[in-house]
Amino acid sequence: ESAAIVEELNQTFDVSLAQMKNISEQLKKEMQKGLNQEGATVAMLPTFVSGRPTGEEKGRYLALDLGGTFLRVCEVDLCGNKEFKIQQKKYKVPLTLKEGDFRDLCDFIAECLDNFIAELNATGSILSSSLSSDANVATAAGSSSNNSTHDISSGSSNNGVEPSPIEKYQLGFTFSFPLFQTDINRGVLKQWTKGYSCTNSVHEDVVEMLQDAFLRKQVPVNIAAIVNDAVGTLMALAYSVPETALGVILGTGTNACYYEKIKDIKKWDGGETLNDEMVVNTEWGAFDCERLVLPLTVHDRKVDRESLRPRQQMFEKMISGMYLGEISRNVILHLIDRQIIFDGYSSNDFNKQHSFDTAYMSSIELDNSPDLQETRHILEDVLSIPSTSLMDRQLVKSVCEIVGRRAARLSACGIAAVLKQSNLVTSGCTIGIDGSLFEHYPCFEANMMQALKDMFGPYISYKVKFSLARDGSGLGAAIVAMLAHKNSQKAA
Ligand code: BG6
Ligand code: GLC
Repeated sequence: ESAAIVEELNQTFDVSLAQMKNISEQLKKEMQKGLNQEGATVAMLPTFVSGRPTGEEKGRYLALDLGGTFLRVCEVDLCGNKEFKIQQKKYKVPLTLKEGDFRDLCDFIAECLDNFIAELNATGSILSSSLSSDANVATAAGSSSNNSTHDISSGSSNNGVEPSPIEKYQLGFTFSFPLFQTDINRGVLKQWTKGYSCTNSVHEDVVEMLQDAFLRKQVPVNIAAIVNDAVGTLMALAYSVPETALGVILGTGTNACYYEKIKDIKKWDGGETLNDEMVVNTEWGAFDCERLVLPLTVHDRKVDRESLRPRQQMFEKMISGMYLGEISRNVILHLIDRQIIFDGYSSNDFNKQHSFDTAYMSSIELDNSPDLQETRHILEDVLSIPSTSLMDRQLVKSVCEIVGRRAARLSACGIAAVLKQSNLVTSGCTIGIDGSLFEHYPCFEANMMQALKDMFGPYISYKVKFSLARDGSGLGAAIVAMLAHKNSQKAA
């Protein structure tokens, strides 16, 4: 019976080759709509990042990175020669701030930054003139090989140097939400996505509000640039791997950006640019809110209906870490209600929305013990399911594999659309990817590559390389801040 259920689930969550081709074609069309006009579903937001890093950029910059789960504060030292050093601190953003007044969130960010600067000043490290030779330097030179990891995180380094006199620090701000930008350091929030829903922020200039908070707290920092996390990831990897052409996020949310020719951004009215290309933030997570091509199951519809913003971010809701656990939970609840699993019993914990974290899916997929002990632990000890048989646990594992595999295949459809739009299928490129899903989810990368091979033939794996740019957005934001600061000095 169990085999028949798995077969049924496989069929429900299958994304056939014909469907994948259809989805990626449709996404490409929607991307073109977004390039032509404002207000399209796939927003295709110009980022004011024009030009590519060379790896020779030098200087010390601050970066802030407001992602799905964490706020990261970084000091980035661009050393040139494709080398860099990063010191960073992570702060968990409390739920109350994600849902409260945006000004309070800005004050929290200002405070974290202030603490970070004070701490680093005390150790003599921040923006001081001497370079440390600590072992945490991540050198990415020559590492454009497939699946390479650019781990840019670093522990703190106390090089014992006295702090140099401080002027105003220049900062790059990674803001992982859709922004209508009017300049490299100007942008109004289009809408919140993922778990955020702050008040007093939509249609407001996010940079202005954060800069005001710095002023209130007397934090001597100038926001030189604001960048999306996908853009930060692209720039970060491009610093060391010049053939990087796409930045992709597969984490709490999902998104992609790429270089587009200015002449093909028909809606562009931002004036002269330094180059004839610009990075476009696709905001592909919003794709197909019209529900024309995505293979939605009843479970997806339910997850969407019960979400913070129904009918929005449909593509993201089938792919990203914020939702995969919730989809699986709903599939399992349905099996419980059909008396197929757990003797028909759920638990109070398991009945709670979002109780089945996507990270549990990763652990369950990795559980290769003969009696699936880790899976038993998660279901019984953590989620209080009264009792599970081995067959139950095997079924749960299959659910995770099936839901995860569909997410990877849909992500590949997204990548295929962007590759086609930017004519990179034949020439090939490196794709900088960041996010917990890509980094930790078993088989995600392999399933994505398999789907690309299904669509384009086996040769695609020699042309297109995925490269994990771990925590790359901070580095990317610092690079953009540097370029922006230099340009503003030239203009002055
Ligand atoms: C990181 C960025 O590179 O990737 C974040 O620093 C971003 O801003 C993140 O949101 C995506 O990962 P996750 O898994 O934390 O959503
Ligand atoms: C959401 C945001 C987008 C971000 C992505 C990944 O889709 O709208 O801006 O890049 O999540 O974090």
